[in-house]
Amino acid sequence: MMTMLPISALQTELGQLYEGDCLNILKSLPNASADLAFADPPFNLRKSYSSAMDDNLPEAAYLDWCRCWATELVRILKTGGSLFLYNLPKWNLPLGAFLMDRLTFRHWITVDMKYCLPIPKRLYPSNYSLLYFVKGKSPSIFHPDRLPIDCCRHCGGEQRDYGGYKDKMNPKGVSLTDVWTDIPPVRHQKYKRRAANELSLKLMDRILSLASNPGSVVLDPFGGSGTTYIAAEILGRRWVGMELDCAPICDRFTQIDKDRENMYKLYENKNRLFTKHSLRLRAQNGFVIGKYRIETSMSNHELDLNALK
Ligand SMILES: C[S@@+](CC[C@H](N)C(=O)[O-])C[C@H]1O[C@@H](n2cnc3c(N)ncnc32)[C@H](O)[C@@H]1O
Repeated sequence: MMTMLPISALQTELGQLYEGDCLNILKSLPNASADLAFADPPFNLRKSYSSAMDDNLPEAAYLDWCRCWATELVRILKTGGSLFLYNLPKWNLPLGAFLMDRLTFRHWITVDMKYCLPIPKRLYPSNYSLLYFVKGKSPSIFHPDRLPIDCCRHCGGEQRDYGGYKDKMNPKGVSLTDVWTDIPPVRHQKYKRRAANELSLKLMDRILSLASNPGSVVLDPFGGSGTTYIAAEILGRRWVGMELDCAPICDRFTQIDKDRENMYKLYENKNRLFTKHSLRLRAQNGFVIGKYRIETSMSNHELDLNALK
């Protein structure tokens, strides 16, 4: 049964943020109204959150809870819409199996994260799982980023030999794979009010660029410090958000220009065969661009850099 939406804690031209339990709020959203849903729930790791939620549930209770909101996300997605679920492999394994009966599996993306805490008697955990499903047979929107060639940070030389294929490489970069090793950790010291589990703007930009267009509706039931909503706002997507404690998100929106600046820097190197830094080093160290085809113009799904300024 549909319930009434609460008054929004934050409203922008593009988005609405609601304070409260996402399970209640999701129930008020209409069927087939989102193009992209992204969820980064608490991982049940006994972390303390400003909302004082219980992050230490018995395993079965945690999974039951996840299945409840995941069911809502599936209902709210449009046919052709994409669902991304970010969690520990331990939780994404059963949740992925649950979603297999409801959606079409696209990818298990491994996000390489070097800075996890070591656990005694276990292998050092160094990746998160990003599950990617689509509602229906195929995605309505699919524009994967292309990545720059991996070059030495010191001299700019290629880390791999592209041999005789240099002239055949796409000038916008190398194809994206399902292992993402270029997502930087977020530094927290600068942002005192933000939750320690804030995701990187680069990760959210990649997901939004891949599975949404300007004007698409992006839904994220676990706001945290609002990275999804900030990315959506900057990239011109409409967004719907919810969070138990919205103060850090409202605070962040008052300083959105800082994130805009970071996004601008990301876009300087996005969908380019070489980063600006590599090009500079290569010129200094005599690595001619040679047969590579370099393109500086942007395709139409990319952001107008001037609009970010
Ligand atoms: C891992 S964090 C999300 C971080 C976010 N992706 C970011 O980049 O800032 C999970 C968030 O979910 C919120 N949360 C937990 N249970 C919730 C619920 N039932 N309804 C709404 N938000 C909830 C927590 O307060 C926490 O801020």
